[in-house]
Amino acid sequence: MAEPMLKIDNIDVYYGAIHALKGISLEVNQGEIVTLIGANGAGKSTTLRTISGLLKPKNGSITFMGKNIAGVPAHQIVREGISQVPEGRRVFAEMTVMENLDLGAFVRKDKAGIQKDLKTVFELFPRLAERRNQSAGTLSGGEQQMLAMGRALMSRPKLLLLDEPSMGLAPLLIKEIFHIIEDINKSGTTVLLVEQNANMALSIANRAYVLETGRITLSGAAQELAASEDVRKAYLGG
Ligand SMILES: Nc1ncnc2c1ncn2[C@@H]1O[C@H](COP(=O)(O)OP(=O)(O)OP(=O)(O)O)[C@@H](O)[C@H]1O
Ligand SMILES: [Mg+2]
Repeated sequence: MAEPMLKIDNIDVYYGAIHALKGISLEVNQGEIVTLIGANGAGKSTTLRTISGLLKPKNGSITFMGKNIAGVPAHQIVREGISQVPEGRRVFAEMTVMENLDLGAFVRKDKAGIQKDLKTVFELFPRLAERRNQSAGTLSGGEQQMLAMGRALMSRPKLLLLDEPSMGLAPLLIKEIFHIIEDINKSGTTVLLVEQNANMALSIANRAYVLETGRITLSGAAQELAASEDVRKAYLGG
């Protein structure tokens, strides 16, 4: 079998004295959608922020496409092909939609490729095209989520990290965002998706990991976890 695209092996992450990740191991294979589910404070965002280089594990390794990237700075991680859409979107409010998207391509110099990807982003998110000159801070919550995803795609990532893309969105828009995640994946981008909305996440994922207070407690095929009694009780509302 081929090596996984991303392999996290036994990492520990601390915030000062707080031991947030306690020996986490997980793998993401090329082409997959993998979801990480768990309650508030379980360590989901911490896991993504460690992969994207914003936090440094105290020990353990993170291997991406054969390279150890644990502790590599965030801007370098983007160059390696990993892009994160952070929790709460964090678009640059004072800048326009276009300026935010341009920033997403900061690691690239291939002008033609950037233009092509901009076109793809506007096809995925037509609303961004209509609002390209609007300042990002005046977009609706859903539109800001689209912009944050579009901006991440502008670096043409091999692996896209999504931190709770459905947060605060109306049910119809959540459906739309999940369809778009599937489209992004079908066009060749591997996805690691963190979600509170476990039902939706498990419905589009190949595999899943359950995180509880800094530890992986369950993992397996998404369909199997969705059918498991324990997962249903804890995360799917019975
Ligand atoms: N900057 C920080 N300083 C100190 N502790 C932190 C910091 N960020 C997170 N933590 C702690 O680390 C633990 C994991 O937090 P994390 O944000 O990864 O959880 P999460 O699973 O993403 O939760 P949520 O679903 O609420 O977003 C929590 O106990 C949290 O209080
Ligand atoms: Mg979080």
